[in-house]
Amino acid sequence: MDDVLTLGGYKENVSGTYILPGDKSIAHRSLIIGGLPKGQYKIFNFPNSKDCNVTLNCMTKLGMEIKKIDDILYVESPGYQNFNKKIEELNCKNSGTTIRLLSGVLSALNIEGRLIGDNSLSKRPMDRITMPLIKMGANIVSNSGNLPLTFKKSKGLEGIAYNMPIASAQVKSCLLISGFLSYGTTAVKEKLPTRDHTERLFKYIGADIDVVDDLIKIKNSSIKSKDIVVPGDISSAAFLISLALLGKGNSIKIEKLLLNERRRRYLDILIKMGANINYIIEDVMNNEEIGTVEVKSSNLKGVIIEEEEIPHIIDEIPMLSVLAAFSQGDTIIKSVEELKYKESNRIEAIISNLNECGVEAYFDSGNLIIKGGNSYFHKDINLDSYNDHRIAMSFLSVAMKNHGRTKIKNWSCSEISFPNSIDYFKDFVRII
Ligand code: S3P
Repeated sequence: MDDVLTLGGYKENVSGTYILPGDKSIAHRSLIIGGLPKGQYKIFNFPNSKDCNVTLNCMTKLGMEIKKIDDILYVESPGYQNFNKKIEELNCKNSGTTIRLLSGVLSALNIEGRLIGDNSLSKRPMDRITMPLIKMGANIVSNSGNLPLTFKKSKGLEGIAYNMPIASAQVKSCLLISGFLSYGTTAVKEKLPTRDHTERLFKYIGADIDVVDDLIKIKNSSIKSKDIVVPGDISSAAFLISLALLGKGNSIKIEKLLLNERRRRYLDILIKMGANINYIIEDVMNNEEIGTVEVKSSNLKGVIIEEEEIPHIIDEIPMLSVLAAFSQGDTIIKSVEELKYKESNRIEAIISNLNECGVEAYFDSGNLIIKGGNSYFHKDINLDSYNDHRIAMSFLSVAMKNHGRTKIKNWSCSEISFPNSIDYFKDFVRII
């Protein structure tokens, strides 16, 4: 079957209010960390996305009972002390967050078994987690730093003081989880601040965790099951925001959206680029800020994005790159090397798709450079998602500036993070 999405232009004057499926990062953690204490709890607005369902399936195999009614999960956990001690094989499919966080659980609880994934995950580096875990005492065998990961019996893990060589929330979270489940204290020092949902959720369930600047300390303590509300996914919102900005006369609102300080930075960058965006924090739920974003169609200008910003916008760089092409002036996104290790090599995927549109873009000395000043295209454009959900949905916005047909090959990977995304996007683009 053809897995191509064909778009034939755009709609104007879109005015709508949207509420999005739950944030992927928080949803993974709501089961992996939220399920550590013994007890019952509910998770609201759990997204029906492929990645999050992978975590749901893995946690079931560890011994949690999870009933799903609409977007609410009714969870009963036996507690981490009573997780199954042998799991044979868990398939993490495309999900980097699942495999990195679960590796922390398996090693620290001395659970024997294998973690595998799909072609994309099998190419992604795992030594960034296996190296520190092995230092803590884990007995893990990898395939030269790649999958499969085989977890064997160890003598138990001890806390570690670890200076992170890369800025990665997945690595940090893996070590904080394994640290919590190990003897002694674990102290992780971040290279640059990354998303902090793990710290916030541990605090919410009562764990002994202490954050001072770039140093996070955690040790085992008593924790309690608590209900968790997953706010709307701010990374999925990026695609709607991009469509709204590029079009004509649009004015939209996104409510109940995650507005965590380390995730909303792309909104500030867009505002710097001239975007007519307002956001307001209205509530705090399970230690996460939630609110509303309003977006109006805008003319944008290019921007220079510095290295410190990268971990905060790591998943939105593809979308920002597309917007950069239609901005006045050039955009430089510095130190984007980590993008090579995502669901696809995102540097190559961004450049080849932009080049396919006729936009000049290149990678130079660690930086991504996009030449702006493009206006409307009048041609057929054939793009490829490279089976990467964020590439697929970021490049959908090209249709807002194309009077010809825009085709996106391997579209269905969008279900990885944004279930039924077309129901939202069809307000902005004409689907053929
Ligand atoms: C995630 C962290 C990010 C991000 C990924 C989700 C998380 O990866 O790209 O989509 O939930 O912790 P790194 O921080 O490891 O780069």
